[in-house]
Amino acid sequence: MKNITIVGAQWGDEGKGKIVDHLCSKFDVVLRFQGGHNAGHTIVTGKDKFILSILPSGLIRNKLCIIGSGVVIDPVHFLKEIDLLRKRKIKISQRNLKIANNASILLPFHSIIDQVREKRLSKKKIGTTGRGIGPCYEDKIARRGLKIYDLEDTNVLKTRLKNLIDFHNIFLKNLSEKKISFNETFKLLVSLRKKILPFSIDVSEFINSKFFFKKKLLFEGAQGLMLDIDHGTFPFVTSSNTIPATAATSIGIKPSKIGHILGVLKSYTTRVGEGPFPTEIKSDIGLEIAKNGNEFGSVTNRPRRCGWFDAVQCRKAIQIAGIDSIALTKIDVLDNFKKIKICYQYKNGKKKIHFMPSSNKILNNVKPVYLTVDGWCANTTGIKNKKSLPQKAQRFIKIIEKLINTPIVFLSNGPDRNDIINLRKID
Ligand code: GDP
Ligand code: IMO
Ligand code: MG
Repeated sequence: MKNITIVGAQWGDEGKGKIVDHLCSKFDVVLRFQGGHNAGHTIVTGKDKFILSILPSGLIRNKLCIIGSGVVIDPVHFLKEIDLLRKRKIKISQRNLKIANNASILLPFHSIIDQVREKRLSKKKIGTTGRGIGPCYEDKIARRGLKIYDLEDTNVLKTRLKNLIDFHNIFLKNLSEKKISFNETFKLLVSLRKKILPFSIDVSEFINSKFFFKKKLLFEGAQGLMLDIDHGTFPFVTSSNTIPATAATSIGIKPSKIGHILGVLKSYTTRVGEGPFPTEIKSDIGLEIAKNGNEFGSVTNRPRRCGWFDAVQCRKAIQIAGIDSIALTKIDVLDNFKKIKICYQYKNGKKKIHFMPSSNKILNNVKPVYLTVDGWCANTTGIKNKKSLPQKAQRFIKIIEKLINTPIVFLSNGPDRNDIINLRKID
């Protein structure tokens, strides 16, 4: 198998962590390339459940893991997550975990600004995770933010941090909010720098070295394609590009190295936070899916909005990301439904739409058109091969495959790492 990039192809929480965990033993390195600790990637190993936010999922199988320059790193959270995993016997050291020295630093005040905005500007609320992701990426793009390598020299750090805090205090003062203390933040960074810097390397130089020439790389996406800052349902998106092309930019690697692109899709759709969601179910059926699928955010514990599978949305995701094959997850969540709907088209007035439009205005007006299929009303968890699946479940998979014109290679039929069926070989 060549290199692989795994991305969520809906609005996040598709089960990326589980699929990365399933595949990573066949790869040499796992690389996270965007987002921050807004992500929550779950891996269930028997009685144990791990939720990784900033750290790559490959750590659970003791793989060499790398965090690229496109990730925003909260150093406090980063060290806390390492500690938590170490306490659970996961080996982590600078030998198996590396972070890009040019990754951006997310500071405690980014999260305060994020929350102040969501609270004070509530009419324009996005429903963020409140973890400061947007404000940190803003600082990066505005060329004010701090990079990991700024921790190397405390004089440089002092000057750059002062400049950054002065900028934000103007906004906070205007809103009569508490100002950020330079002294406190500086002290915090000075106390953390010796713990962070040993993990820091020039990732591009490292991964492009001769040693990695024939090594197999797995790139782990975070968030979902519909949350991409350019191609998602703007402004109800996250602040990074979630598409696979970002992996090359973030790591500093030849774009062709991202290899095979595997999209992860739930057998239905969920979304956390605000924003358009054409197939959202507002009746009790939505609540039943949420209950069966335990649809509560891994990071904020917020209930996820639930809806039917949306082929119109998936066609767009497949195109913007260049998806080659699909892992379909959580089929077991639909086990008890007598009837299951699949959206194959939208209508805007009389106009038929087959590809999710970018404009929010149109998206807010479209009506989903559904195909209703018979449910299989039988347990799928525990089944180990395609032939043993109920006929009606096989038909459901076939219909989805046809509607999105992309092969489904894995079927996930339960939360555990062993609840997975290989349907076909990846080309
Ligand atoms: P990620 O962010 O894409 O890695 O996904 P999350 O971990 O945030 O959310 C997926 C949730 O579904 C987690 O609680 C997983 O343990 C769970 N999960 C993953 N695959 C399956 C599956 O096939 N069936 C069921 N029932 N749960 C699953
Ligand atoms: P994983 O990697 C689901 C959503 C938030 C909000 C929007 C912006 O676990 O799939 P942000 O804090 O990023 O500025 O919030 O994006 N969001 C996610 N939803 N899964 C995630 O990550 C998400 N990360 C951000 O709920 O709607
Ligand atoms: Mg998640």
